[in-house]
Amino acid sequence: MRTININGTDHQLDVDDDMPLIWAIRDIVGLTGTKFGCGQALCGACTVHLDGVPVRSCQTFVGDAEGAAITTIEGLSGNVPETVQTVWAEMDVPQCGYCQSGQIMSAVALLAETPKPSDDDIDAAMGGNLCRCASYHRIRGAIHEAARRLEA
Ligand code: FES
Ligand code: FES
Repeated sequence: MRTININGTDHQLDVDDDMPLIWAIRDIVGLTGTKFGCGQALCGACTVHLDGVPVRSCQTFVGDAEGAAITTIEGLSGNVPETVQTVWAEMDVPQCGYCQSGQIMSAVALLAETPKPSDDDIDAAMGGNLCRCASYHRIRGAIHEAARRLEA
């Protein structure tokens, strides 16, 4: 039995230590905002925060996540996440939307760490989040706009 904390709530899971965290989040706990893409830490669709740090939940395992605070897209709260999500909606960033919870999780972690990111900072932080709809230009603009609003 493993206890993992997701969005502030402890969940006792009868699973193997090497179960990818994404399946615990989606299939057992039932939070489906975190998406499965490649399963190989290559696309970023499954990004969640572990103690505030973005990780790929398809290649993070339940045994590694015990004792950490896991945050999914459903559990984001506070000024930075709320500003990011507001700007995302206002600027119509998503197209199909599939990659977007992962994009937002990475963008929130970037702005929490680097309040005024340069284009290079954005490239470094977001480079692992792929978007087959090529929303990259809007993502970059939305991160800059969120930074402006958070600074004001
Ligand atoms: S599904 Fe995890 S990085 Fe692609
Ligand atoms: S919005 Fe469609 S994959 Fe990114």
